[in-house]
Amino acid sequence: MDKAVRGLTTEELMDLAIEMAGQTQFPADSRIYFPGKDIKKILFGIDIGVAELLVGKQLGVDCVVAHHPDPSVLTFPDVLDLHVDLAVKNGVPENEARAAVDAMRERNAFVRHSANYDHVPSFARLLNMPFMNIHNPLDEIGRQRMQEAVDAHCNHGSTVSDVVKALYSLSEFTGAPTKIEVRMGKPDSPAGKTVVVHGAGTNGGAALARLYYRYGIGTVVYIHIGLGEFMKLKGEFPQGKNLIISGHIASDAAGINPFIERLECMGIEVIRVSGL
Ligand SMILES: [Fe+2]
Ligand SMILES: [Fe+2]
Repeated sequence: MDKAVRGLTTEELMDLAIEMAGQTQFPADSRIYFPGKDIKKILFGIDIGVAELLVGKQLGVDCVVAHHPDPSVLTFPDVLDLHVDLAVKNGVPENEARAAVDAMRERNAFVRHSANYDHVPSFARLLNMPFMNIHNPLDEIGRQRMQEAVDAHCNHGSTVSDVVKALYSLSEFTGAPTKIEVRMGKPDSPAGKTVVVHGAGTNGGAALARLYYRYGIGTVVYIHIGLGEFMKLKGEFPQGKNLIISGHIASDAAGINPFIERLECMGIEVIRVSGL
């Protein structure tokens, strides 16, 4: 490796992701659990636990980076507010988007409140292993790439399968073991206006999809959806509306890969694990 590589701090890693996403604020669903500096070698995975920190130690990395937030990130519900911004930008009235998101926030706050707020981070300190997670900025990069792919390949006459094909222009989807699934609607149905609803903590469930449909969106793309929320939505038989599920890990990778590639261009060695 080039001797001239400048090691980064955990703060600089976070700032770079924020900048690449076109954001300015520290993401509510991301955290530096144990700070580090002069980072030149990273173990990067979508999910990181205690075992993975130990693997990082054994491999001699300078920092372990997760994508998904640790349960200790109690501010996570704040990131769901980004659903309001995205919905409003796509024609949903703010008060209706806000009501749906507030219900999601409350459910999420209950889950976070009961979680162990210092499990994995306590082991990072014990191992003296810098540890952080970068979630929303990387999901935002993925959302932009996915929406740009749809916008570049589709127009007013496009079908649902054209949207699926557009998403497959990203190598993360062609290389994934999961397929892009049309969960609601038919491949030859008109897609209508298509919105990639991603980059706001988690999927918007039935409540957000319902609002997009009500206010003129023909096709919602989620990266994942729980069976309960899907059954609720499907049970409403939204006429002529479509739901595409792009696949969780492939979609996360679509946002993470440009960041890793940027780090590698800077001479930083990145060991990819856990879905990357
Ligand atoms: Fe993600
Ligand atoms: Fe994810």
